[in-house]
Amino acid sequence: MSTLAPAPPRTRKQIPGLRLSLPFYVFKPWLKFGEPIRLFEYLRRTYGNIAQYRFLGTPIVFVNEPRMIQQILIQDAHRYVKERTVRRMKILLGEGLITSDEPIHMRQRRIAAPAFHRQRIAAYGDQIVAIAAAQREHLRDGEVIDIAAATMQLSLEIVARTLFATEVTDDIRRINDEVNTIMELYNFIVAFPRIELFLNWPIPGLVRFRRAKARLDAVVNRLIHQRREEVAQGLPDRGDLLSMLLRSVDDEADADGRHTGMSDEQLRDEVLTIFLAGYETVANGLAWTWYLLSQNPEVEARLHEEVDRVLGTGDTARLPTLADYASLRYTEQVFAEAMRLYPPAWAMGRMAIEDTTLGEYDVPRGAHVFFSQYILSRDPEYFPDPLRFDPERFTPEAKAARPRFAYFPFGGGSRQCIGEAFAWMEGVFSIATMAQQWRMVYTGTEPPVPQAKITLRPRDPLRMRLVRR
Ligand code: HEM
Repeated sequence: MSTLAPAPPRTRKQIPGLRLSLPFYVFKPWLKFGEPIRLFEYLRRTYGNIAQYRFLGTPIVFVNEPRMIQQILIQDAHRYVKERTVRRMKILLGEGLITSDEPIHMRQRRIAAPAFHRQRIAAYGDQIVAIAAAQREHLRDGEVIDIAAATMQLSLEIVARTLFATEVTDDIRRINDEVNTIMELYNFIVAFPRIELFLNWPIPGLVRFRRAKARLDAVVNRLIHQRREEVAQGLPDRGDLLSMLLRSVDDEADADGRHTGMSDEQLRDEVLTIFLAGYETVANGLAWTWYLLSQNPEVEARLHEEVDRVLGTGDTARLPTLADYASLRYTEQVFAEAMRLYPPAWAMGRMAIEDTTLGEYDVPRGAHVFFSQYILSRDPEYFPDPLRFDPERFTPEAKAARPRFAYFPFGGGSRQCIGEAFAWMEGVFSIATMAQQWRMVYTGTEPPVPQAKITLRPRDPLRMRLVRR
């Protein structure tokens, strides 16, 4: 009679990496405060697909392998929550889509989804084009502009119009200023241990945060109340994102069988979240696009060829409309390739809420797992000759030949960017509208330096000379 042999013990591999806690490496050239990409590049170079280190007692795993990223974001998503620095932002963004956990997130996402539906955001296409067209009218031949500031302004006007159905009024400027004040305090907020317990203490950074947050809440609350009033009076829908969010109700009933919408507090959290998530990201993506076009005349010429073919030239030239979107394929590839080299969201992270595994490795509960769009999308395995700017990498065939998570500027899984379709439309339409009339020539002598803040932005002004086509 045969007996079953006991199963062999699972052989798990040890994650390679730094032996000492991170601060011990403070004199290494790859560890520099405020330059996290250096560390990630070093880990990738030295350890390959997966590496680990410790920081203030927390085990951190850095992953560079598309299938493992897919496992974290999709198959094993329920084993993780957002990592600590994002969770910290709850003090600003409350339980908005970026910061909330399940099950709150799922409900908010269901209610918000119709506002971001492809058909719904199609209505914003004309507004994006109108705003970009107005901006290009102010440009002068030969003038030198900071394109990073110009794309920020463009993006701010687009968010004001599409989120609040308004111009950039004082209210919008106030929101922008207060968000910027708070973002300047970001590193302080993230580094402050157990900040939630100290929010009301008279510590200078926290006092500034509290004041900015109070002013911010006051403006946004007022906008929400005005809009609720309009709804109560039966005034017509303004067709903006705020109206959609305000009218939308959960299609799943609550315990009392009611289909409810968002409270004012939830609305405020979502409005701030969308403002923060949707504005600087696109602006930086566009600024890098213009820089890269200025360095790659052949790509620029192909872009011009497409824009002229689709939209006409001379007296017959017209502004893009929604019907043109599908024809502006190369324009979309240009934006995709720019976000490969300079992904606005340059890294993401999660925290394991149970002991789990990743590929053939163990990941303990409490470990932080990070992965970087910047590192992956410059990996020669997936993008040969990675520093070359080549929009051909984004033909449908080329995309299909790569693993899903070799390129993920918008994340993936249940927390994938809800504004992705919006961002593509904003990118493609504003590039096409501007490229129809203008070229830009980079006036710097050195390549611009990317700075990994919340988004990947140029460290210094990105000065471009405008040349009328
Ligand atoms: C080029 C532009 C953009 C980039 C690169 C980008 C990137 C991302 C990424 C990577 C995430 C996932 C974060 C994570 O899982 O940890 C995300 C989430 C999100 N994004 Fe975007 N985004 C962009 C534009 C926008 C726009 C235009 C909006 C709104 C109008 C927006 C709203 C959001 C929201 C609300 C979330 C949270 C979604 C959720 O967890 O359910 N984003 N974005």
